[in-house]
Amino acid sequence: MEKTFLMIKPDGVQRNLIGMIVSRFEQKGYKLIASKLMTITEHLAKTHYAEHDGKPFFNDLVSFITSGPVFAMVWEGENVIDMSRKMMGGKTNPQEAEIGTIRGDYGVVMHRNIIHGSDSSESADREINLFFDHAELQQYNKNI
Ligand code: CMP
Repeated sequence: MEKTFLMIKPDGVQRNLIGMIVSRFEQKGYKLIASKLMTITEHLAKTHYAEHDGKPFFNDLVSFITSGPVFAMVWEGENVIDMSRKMMGGKTNPQEAEIGTIRGDYGVVMHRNIIHGSDSSESADREINLFFDHAELQQYNKNI
């Protein structure tokens, strides 16, 4: 079954949006198979966002994402990578995200866009392995 990595960023955590965001994905029908509240080290931030190294916003991005706790999650379900990006708002910039999506409803500016989600299956594998040990990923009992 497809898996994706989602992370509520420090702005979303401090604005008490964890419950609302988790609820949206639960109600959609996806399964939360791992989660943790954690503060990202500078090394992890730079590794996670390595593709943006050298861009003008890179240093600000690293200092923002390490500025307070994030809520890291792994979600599982059919087509969860693409669908979760639609639920987040499609666009990175909350100003361009449709109302009814997470960024569209709760975000205002690009560098405070509340949530990160993997953009491909390769990114999902890489990001899940960066943040979680394989043993932390749960399996649901199909008989319940
Ligand atoms: P995210 O999906 O986590 O991936 C990279 C992040 O960089 C992005 O969300 C934004 O929060 C942040 N960012 C800040 N400025 C920019 C920018 N000009 N273009 C793209 N991403 C940006």
